[in-house]
Amino acid sequence: MRVRIIWKFFAAFVLLTIVTAIILGSFLVIRLRSNVESKISQRLQSDAILAGEIFRKAMLEGDNTYIQRETKELAKKLNLRITVIDKQGKVLADSEMDAQSMENHGGRAEFIGAVEKGVGESTRFSHTLNYSMKYVAVRVTDGTEVVGVVRIAVPESEVQLELHQLYRVAIAGVIAAICIAGVIAYVMARGISTPIRQMKEVADAIAKGQFDERTSIRGEDELAELGRSLNAMSDELKLKIERLKYLDTVRTDFVANVSHELKTPLTSIRGFVETLEDGAINDSDNARRFLAIIKKHAQRLSNIIDDLLRLSELESGGGIEMGKVDIKGLIDEVAMGFGHSLAVKQQKLSVEAAGGDFTIRGDKDRLEQVFVNLVDNAIKYTKEGGRIKVQLVQAGDSVIVTVEDNGIGIPKEDIERVFERFYRVDKARSRELGGTGLGLSIAKHIVLAHNGEIRIESEINKGTKVFVTLPKN
Ligand SMILES: Nc1ncnc2c1ncn2[C@@H]1O[C@H](COP(=O)(O)OP(=O)(O)OP(=O)(O)O)[C@@H](O)[C@H]1O
Ligand SMILES: [Mg+2]
Repeated sequence: MRVRIIWKFFAAFVLLTIVTAIILGSFLVIRLRSNVESKISQRLQSDAILAGEIFRKAMLEGDNTYIQRETKELAKKLNLRITVIDKQGKVLADSEMDAQSMENHGGRAEFIGAVEKGVGESTRFSHTLNYSMKYVAVRVTDGTEVVGVVRIAVPESEVQLELHQLYRVAIAGVIAAICIAGVIAYVMARGISTPIRQMKEVADAIAKGQFDERTSIRGEDELAELGRSLNAMSDELKLKIERLKYLDTVRTDFVANVSHELKTPLTSIRGFVETLEDGAINDSDNARRFLAIIKKHAQRLSNIIDDLLRLSELESGGGIEMGKVDIKGLIDEVAMGFGHSLAVKQQKLSVEAAGGDFTIRGDKDRLEQVFVNLVDNAIKYTKEGGRIKVQLVQAGDSVIVTVEDNGIGIPKEDIERVFERFYRVDKARSRELGGTGLGLSIAKHIVLAHNGEIRIESEINKGTKVFVTLPKN
């Protein structure tokens, strides 16, 4: 059977209180009972002493009439049973019985005690009265001589009555303590069980793959801390799983993209080879043209594979060889390499470097690849007659290179995505221009490997500005 934790705590608390209350109560009752008992016998004793004083003279003189009369009077006033006994044990007077009919009391425990020690006590069944009595007897003396004994008695039930009252108070106390403890135990147990239940719910949700449940435990204690840790764990798991899902889509997309990118040129190559087989090979002009196309596609396949290999090398942290690189010289070389493309599109490229030293620590070939791609992009995605500006600035311990064009621009929602592998804003157009969408992805990896930063600002139909920040060391 499943018992909720709140009830386990509750039961433990209550049990503890019951045990404590019973132990404490018992000690208290034992203590108080002996108190009550000794108080009763003290009272009876002083009553007996008093009565002894009253009867002493009459006892000495043998005035039994007086004794008998006064015994009845006094007993009525004190509401007790009084017995006057002479020193031989003969009953001289009794407040409730005829003294003559009573047997000798010389053998009674209280009588013997009183004669020997001054006071005697006994509780026993009275055959005279037919119920249990508590007796207290004191001796009456004249100088050193014992004159007799005065005995006072109360029914045992009266003593019991007082004790019962005591028990009732004690029991009421114990019950009240248990009730109060029960309420406190319930509140405390709930204070523990509510957070635990909340945490269980969150843990269950996590187990089901739902990461939106949160605990709301206030306070600074261990439970609150545990609750917060659980929330943090859920946050962390959520992030990690989202990341994993994202990486998984990237991977599947990547495989699909690679296959597609490789298939396109291959299909073309096969088409032209088949055309040649079907007879075109005999038409030497066409054959030469087809072979050139086949070569172009083969080159493209080779480029894609080179890029992929480069990317995977960079991703695994390799492929970078550090040395001294003069960025200004590098950019001039890159610009020179594009002379023909610029002339074809009637575009102008300017390189501006505001003095300073642009030597950094880096991999010359890889950095060249970065700027070749940025300038190539600027030329490709800018209309004829456009302007491309490369600027070099020194900022603290870094060199910032910006490649700016006044071309077609990139839509806002695509700016971050152009760094993804194979991502192109306009697939068809980019492919037509010979692009595979790997250029910026490789550039980003290279810049990151130099502890640098690459970022794009762009506006549709106005132009694009790419910022590359490279630390000098
Ligand atoms: N200067 C730019 N102006 C407008 N769009 C750009 C610019 N640079 C990049 N893009 C967009 O970003 C996409 C990704 O660029 P990236 O350099 O990675 O690939 P690509 O140039 O198409 O192919 P590759 O560089 O592999 O030959 C491009 O397809 C283009 O849509
Ligand atoms: Mg490119």
